[in-house]
Amino acid sequence: SNNNVNSLRMASLANNVASELPNIDWDNLGFRLTTTDYMYIMKCSQGENFSKGELQRFGNIELSPCAGVLNYGQGLFEGLKAYKTHNGNILLFRPEENATRLRTGAERMCMPSPTVDQFLEAVKATVLANERWIPPPGKGALYIRPLLIGSGAVLGIAPAPEYTFLMYVSPVGNYFKGGLAPINLIVETEMHRATPGGTGGVKTIGNYAAVLNAQIAAKAKGFSDVLYLDSIHKRYLEEVSSCNIFVVKGNLISTPAIKGTILPGITRKSILDLARSQGFQVEERLITVDELVDADEVFCTGTAVVVSPVGSITYLNKRLFLLLLL
Ligand code: COI
Repeated sequence: SNNNVNSLRMASLANNVASELPNIDWDNLGFRLTTTDYMYIMKCSQGENFSKGELQRFGNIELSPCAGVLNYGQGLFEGLKAYKTHNGNILLFRPEENATRLRTGAERMCMPSPTVDQFLEAVKATVLANERWIPPPGKGALYIRPLLIGSGAVLGIAPAPEYTFLMYVSPVGNYFKGGLAPINLIVETEMHRATPGGTGGVKTIGNYAAVLNAQIAAKAKGFSDVLYLDSIHKRYLEEVSSCNIFVVKGNLISTPAIKGTILPGITRKSILDLARSQGFQVEERLITVDELVDADEVFCTGTAVVVSPVGSITYLNKRLFLLLLL
């Protein structure tokens, strides 16, 4: 809804930014990296606050081999999207939510973080400088990837002495192959993405390296992605590698409650708000894997996946859930 979307009217392109449209097949974007003209960069020392950032031509950055992020994974990322409307406006979806989530994560990872205003300024500057890379209306979005990393050199386990906040963008289309066709998930029974007290509830970079192994195995068997269970009881739904999960039964829409092991998705929150306002009964709670058997519908939410219907869920070699297409 309009209340939930920040609308930015961009009057003109920044000086010396190329304005011709890039040579892109907008109808076949997929979720692949296409690098663009500019990135945003801002640095600060440990114990200080970020002060001033700047746009730079997109390119490699220089890092010490001893950088905290490279050695000990002191890093966070965010993901949000900018859309172009038919009348030429640029819309950002709840960017202040990403700004505050980054701040929460930075506390957990012992990093300084940009203020909400600094974050929003960086998003606006980066999107404006890369405006020609925003897909035409209906063709996709400009995916914005903010990164906060311990860039200073360190040897013993300690917070890095310097931090870098970066932002780059890429035009993207659908996350899953097959566009919005229902996806097929497999429940992972051996590996977990998060543990209680760990970092599963913040968007730290290591959470995403941890899911690669199971993801590769799942894709080799023809599945779209992996559904994780809680690591204690191995029974409750947590999330998919790239998105949150919702289960629908009649008028009840349920999703796993946020309890430190699940990423508090911004699309998740928006769907909960929308569902409540539309009169659905909504529950954030423990959901057992067996409940999937009786589900009417299952869907996933995320910035990258948006809202993706689930076609089937396989658990211990059995189809636990199969979407009935009437
Ligand atoms: C997002 O939806 O933005 C994500 O972070 C998921 C994935 C692309 C890593």
